[in-house]
Amino acid sequence: MSAPIAPVPAGVRVRVPAKINLTLKVGAPRPDGFHPLATVYQAVSLFDEVIASWDDPGQFSIVHSGEGAGEVPVDDRNLAVRAAKLLAERHGDGLPLGVALSIHKAIPVAGGLAGGSSNGAAALLACATLWALDLSDEQLLVLAAELGSDVPFALVGGTALGSGRGEQVAPVLGRGSYHWVLGFGRKGLSTPAVYRTYDDLQPHAPPPEVSDELMAALRSGDAERLGPALDNDLQPAALRLQPQLRQTLETGLEYGALGAVVSGSGPTVAFLVRSEAAAVDLCVALTADGVVRTARTVTGPVSGARLLP
Ligand code: C5P
Repeated sequence: MSAPIAPVPAGVRVRVPAKINLTLKVGAPRPDGFHPLATVYQAVSLFDEVIASWDDPGQFSIVHSGEGAGEVPVDDRNLAVRAAKLLAERHGDGLPLGVALSIHKAIPVAGGLAGGSSNGAAALLACATLWALDLSDEQLLVLAAELGSDVPFALVGGTALGSGRGEQVAPVLGRGSYHWVLGFGRKGLSTPAVYRTYDDLQPHAPPPEVSDELMAALRSGDAERLGPALDNDLQPAALRLQPQLRQTLETGLEYGALGAVVSGSGPTVAFLVRSEAAAVDLCVALTADGVVRTARTVTGPVSGARLLP
């Protein structure tokens, strides 16, 4: 059954990108259960759009359309709703605030691309603008970090080093733009389940550290050098839970990808390629081969959450 088409109200519109992890190094769990990370995020040109419109005071509603719309929770687990409520609570100053959120999704749900986190980041920016709350970027980042590990990066975008549990972000100086193919799996993966499997596979993980080679590759802007440096500690756990991902990775490399890596907790696989033409070719090959549900060509880096006119 197809998802209901959401009405498109007039309001504040924010566009927000998906992220991939070029490297993801994961340490042993901290006392709070989260894992210390050293990661390099890159925002890529696959965007969700969040529209915020006024609603009655105390009303926080949400509708979704597009990719996987029927799978997104619409209760208080929804990061966009939580973002709106958190913002009203912390910075609403007793104003009669309410919002109707409408999200058009292109980023697959539970795909390892931070789709939910990016919706939370976009909702923060959209609601702060709708309600004319005068917040600095730093204040938004503090709320973003409270909402989830990947939410601050979705505000910042570009290419950034992530540390802490992923919520501390610092821009990475790099050059050039890269062509990627994203191969989407048929089923999602639960992030907590992937981390639990990682702990079973790697009970004595060392403190995480990004490799010098990956940083040097990014500084050079050379895709041929970046390809072999792509790396994800969670990949063996994702492969344990979805063994067919191994074939997806191998197929992309056979068709000439410079590198292939599971993004975040998966199951989306990111393939680095030489050119736009190579990206289109690989997209067709992966889809025809049937190893992915569908594939998309994207470029990165792109900017984080932005207001649309
Ligand atoms: O921060 P976020 O809510 O996106 O994390 C979702 C889940 O992923 C956490 O509840 C936790 O199970 C896992 N996680 C983790 N270590 C991290 C980030 C996420 O264990 N650094």
